[in-house]
Amino acid sequence: MIENIITPTPINGVLDHSTPPIIDRFGRSFNYLRLALNEQCNLRCIYCMPEEGIDFRSEDKLLTTEEIFRLIKIGSQMGVSKIRFTGGEPLLRKDLSELVQFAHQCEGIESTHLTTNGLLLSKQIDNLEKSGLSGINISLDTLNPEKFKIITRRNGLDLVLNSLHKAMESTIQSIKLNVVALRGFNDDELMDFVDLTEENDITVRFIELMPFDSHQIWKTGKFYGADHIVADIKNQVDELNPIDGSRTEHHIFRVNDYKGKVAVIPAYSRSLCGACNRIRITADGKLLNCLYSQDETNLRDAMRSGKTDEHIEKMIRGSMMKKFKDGWEAQNEGNNKRESMTQIGG
Ligand code: GTP
Ligand code: 5AD
Ligand code: SF4
Repeated sequence: MIENIITPTPINGVLDHSTPPIIDRFGRSFNYLRLALNEQCNLRCIYCMPEEGIDFRSEDKLLTTEEIFRLIKIGSQMGVSKIRFTGGEPLLRKDLSELVQFAHQCEGIESTHLTTNGLLLSKQIDNLEKSGLSGINISLDTLNPEKFKIITRRNGLDLVLNSLHKAMESTIQSIKLNVVALRGFNDDELMDFVDLTEENDITVRFIELMPFDSHQIWKTGKFYGADHIVADIKNQVDELNPIDGSRTEHHIFRVNDYKGKVAVIPAYSRSLCGACNRIRITADGKLLNCLYSQDETNLRDAMRSGKTDEHIEKMIRGSMMKKFKDGWEAQNEGNNKRESMTQIGG
């Protein structure tokens, strides 16, 4: 059992459960908190990080276990009901199970999820399952070992596939595969991925490449747009039946009568922004009101300088109220260049 280490703040510091939801100027409300746990990763995906890594922030700059507990608690009191731990690679953090358990037991949190590259997952899955994890999104861009080595600059396809199988055998309800779709790299594997949904109740999601790496791989002609991906799948199956999915799954289908689902995420074309329900916090405690946001709100320093929960709540509401209509507008405000997706948390 995790002890609740957050001391309740008396009277005016306390956030009661009747606080209004977090909203913005465009009528969106935010109930999904994505928390990056680190920037480090045990892979070096070519669209994410250079071979030598990036200028990783030192440990003392990253949120501590207690600070993350506190943000989950504050979020839950403001109507957050879904937590996702991302990175970097969150399985490299030793307190992951503890964080999952805390989120799972936190009043108001209905589901707790993890986004991982899957390398270390098989060893930890039992613990995560016991801690109450509801969903795992595993990143995997190819089913071919040689291509895996090219895209991640490391070996490990067997480990990821083993983790995927263990995840499917577990009681964890939602299992998804994130495939960054790249022209000339894995466009010939669309059907191999789609076929995984025939017998398995998983969601395979093709993600558009985004411009978040210092080497700008995305400028090399590999971009494969959501509309083209959908059209190319449509051409190769008998039936593509639209169904419901999460807010990032702007296009989601069941192929024929397959058990699983196939989705396409327009991460770059950003046709999903109107339904955005996400708040992101980076590993060093900066709140981003959009994946493409140039602006950040430093919650870590506010917590470290002794600010009350009420103050942190105001900072969160204020930042979300400044959210732009979509990721295009957000991108055009400022020039805070980041070196890698790991500095945003995916
Ligand atoms: P579900 O909760 O299962 O829908 O997962 P998710 O898509 O929210 O999370 P995941 O960490 O699996 O993210 C997969 C990819 O979706 C990310 O790498 C992004 O490419 C894309 N994505 C997630 N959130 C956003 C967002 O707010 N805007 C845009 N443009 N893309 C996003
Ligand atoms: N473009 C699109 N997706 C990316 N990811 C990391 N970098 C990029 C990028 N530049 C994906 C990972 C993972 C998710 C969290 O983000 O593959 O599935
Ligand atoms: Fe690691 Fe994910 Fe970046 Fe690949 S995309 S290097 S798995 S953080």
